[in-house]
Amino acid sequence: MSDIDLLDLPLVLLSNRGPVRFDRDASGRTVNRGAGGLVSALSGLAEHLDDAVWVCGAATTEDAAVAGENDGGSILVQTQPFPHVADGSPAGPSIRVRLVVTDPSAYADFYSVWSNPILWFIQHGLYGRSLAPVLTQAEHDAFENGYAAVNRAYADAVADEVRSRGGKALVLLQDYHFYLVAEHVREQCPDVVLTHFVHIPWPAPDEWRVLPADIRERLLRGLLGSDVVGFHTRRYARNFVLCAGELLGLPINLDELTVQVNNRTVQARYYPISVDPAALDATLASEEVAAHMAMLRYVFLDEDRQLVLRVDRTDPSKNVVRGFLAFGTLLDQHPELVGKVSFLALLQPSRTDVPEYADYIALIGAVVAEINARHTKEGRQPIDLRMVEDFSLAVAAYSICDVLMVNAIADGMNLVAKEVAVVNRRGGVLALSEMAGAHEELGEFAVTLHPFDVQQMADALYTALTMPMDERHRRLAAAAEQVRTHDVRRWLTDQVADLRHLAGFS
Ligand code: ADP
Ligand code: G6P
Repeated sequence: MSDIDLLDLPLVLLSNRGPVRFDRDASGRTVNRGAGGLVSALSGLAEHLDDAVWVCGAATTEDAAVAGENDGGSILVQTQPFPHVADGSPAGPSIRVRLVVTDPSAYADFYSVWSNPILWFIQHGLYGRSLAPVLTQAEHDAFENGYAAVNRAYADAVADEVRSRGGKALVLLQDYHFYLVAEHVREQCPDVVLTHFVHIPWPAPDEWRVLPADIRERLLRGLLGSDVVGFHTRRYARNFVLCAGELLGLPINLDELTVQVNNRTVQARYYPISVDPAALDATLASEEVAAHMAMLRYVFLDEDRQLVLRVDRTDPSKNVVRGFLAFGTLLDQHPELVGKVSFLALLQPSRTDVPEYADYIALIGAVVAEINARHTKEGRQPIDLRMVEDFSLAVAAYSICDVLMVNAIADGMNLVAKEVAVVNRRGGVLALSEMAGAHEELGEFAVTLHPFDVQQMADALYTALTMPMDERHRRLAAAAEQVRTHDVRRWLTDQVADLRHLAGFS
């Protein structure tokens, strides 16, 4: 039974990446967890919601097979433990999922041209602009036949789920893949309460001028089809309202963060997303994590050695390359640390069909090889780069690291920082980019990183590694307290409480 009050309405959630991913191996059909922070945060919540369906994209061939076997309808899928073999009806926590299959070429234009890199790069400020982006007729076609077409298909699936629940529902649209969905859903189901949560930064109006006027205006108008547009921070919400004023010429109120669209008032709001501390505690207590921990201690922490950690997708916004350059600078300038400090990087390959992402992986490999060649001592390489997706290993590493590095160029929130705050047991220091949304909550307990200043990051790593133990533990305890009292459940309940007020529910 859910104890989260959803305005007495059923819930229809939409995101491109779903909570589970089906694959097939020798043991049969396997179920694994979907990638990224959005899924990490929302999966735990969704398991506790009654009468909820999560509409998402079929990401693998096996996902498409599952959708086909169920005529495109929704199915109940067991989540924990990950991974497991799907060999019967769910025996553990489960989520109702509807996998949407779209034309592969339209999906490629939607995902690998427009969502990534174009929208992701604009919203994270990743384009240098002297040579990229280049928008040709191909990109214009990809917008119509890919982004817009796929948005319509997902809107139809959402509307279908709403109709099958009597035409009234709380619809929670997620992220930058679906800026055109709200208006289509509203047309088909006028009685829905619609929110669109953007999990990535929302930049100032001039950044959006990289896109031609017709496209940026359609994206903005599409989002304004929602009742509420949610962000992680006030800065992003304010930028969104400014965009509506400057790029669409709509009346706005910057104090109240509202936009007037004909006779509707659209609210921009901010709710910092978070983690599920109880689920993390349970993962930390598992045998699998204990085994990883013993291995990591043996490899990295014998004698009085120290460990710097990063856990990320291989996304250019995460700034992995400059992170390693900073570590290399640290070793250059503090030779006494060579052989004493290791850097473990657990990197999950991401969006590898997008050329910018494939190139970035190659660059990471090259910079690691160069630093390792420079600083290997007594057969020990300073950087251990592992291209893996392994959440248990990540949790084990979180718990025993001395420093966690998050040096993102821009990041909507960054859940890795919140996960380590809950899980670390060694007085681990957060080295946290001032450009991550999480910095607003955790910056005062962290050592702040400036993502472009390699020297500053090297100095900050040194400060973190040499910080007195009592200070390390004091900061960690304060960060953990902040996350435990502002968990993902609160992210949702705060939104629902505001909706109750805004939509006039008693
Ligand atoms: P993003 O959503 O941009 O990927 P976040 O830091 O908000 O960034 O969330 C990333 C999520 O993915 C976290 O839950 C993190 O634990 C998980 N994750 C990142 N890298 C790995 C990895 N190599 N193996 C397993 N899980 C990972
Ligand atoms: C970020 C985005 C999510 C996305 C995730 C993983 O968290 O906000 O929408 O799902 O990255 O990226 P991917 O492209 O693998 O879904």
